[in-house]
Amino acid sequence: MDPSRAPSAESPLAVLFDAYGTLFDVYSVGQLAEQLFPGRGQDLSVLWRDKQIEYSRLVTTSSDGAHYRPFWELTRAGLVYAIKQIANIKEPERAEATFGAQIDRLMNEYRNLRAFPENQAVLQALRARGIATGILSNGDPGMLGSAVRSAGFEALLDHVISVDAVRKYKTHPAAYKLGEQAMGLEAAKILFVSSNSWDALGATWHGYQTLWVNRYQRPFEELGTQPTRIGTSLRDVLSFFEV
Ligand code: LAC
Repeated sequence: MDPSRAPSAESPLAVLFDAYGTLFDVYSVGQLAEQLFPGRGQDLSVLWRDKQIEYSRLVTTSSDGAHYRPFWELTRAGLVYAIKQIANIKEPERAEATFGAQIDRLMNEYRNLRAFPENQAVLQALRARGIATGILSNGDPGMLGSAVRSAGFEALLDHVISVDAVRKYKTHPAAYKLGEQAMGLEAAKILFVSSNSWDALGATWHGYQTLWVNRYQRPFEELGTQPTRIGTSLRDVLSFFEV
């Protein structure tokens, strides 16, 4: 599928990427979940991801951010919740004792994700064109550092920006603002790339040019705003730079 095109946006001067699901493939986590919880891996993975994001919104919007915790902790909390529900544990306080080894293995898998196969070539092509690149992610600096290292992307990214600097998760404006500050550019001159439709929408509302990488043939959000373009792989980033 060709990326859908917006008519006349100026070519961006920099590109920011979301991390989880966009640069880093969380599929292997689902596979391991299936191995550890046969027949329930898919449900577990979906519930885990949903809880992780729900918690990020909860701590950002409640009590002026007083309950902020780094993304690694929210990710673990989301996993424990998901296991409790999937395993139908009768004594919830025993979940961590019963499933400690599974929790550790899944969190470890999450720390060392692979990148999608096309990503390296896309980052190299942007580098060759002199386009500044970065990650702007909910992930905390520790987990982003591990993911960037295990994907071998250290030399291909100019910035690895964690919202931890402002203790507000996307889609809070302070989180998206970090990308403008790091690049020294206003949002309209930056392309923001995400596979998460809510993130592509939030970034569009913030003023970024956006590419939603719709890897799994899903519908976009139904809130009246579309991303600048829609693609199916990270390669579609390069369509913004064709003359
Ligand atoms: C991130 C999550 C939302 O990297 O994918 O920010």
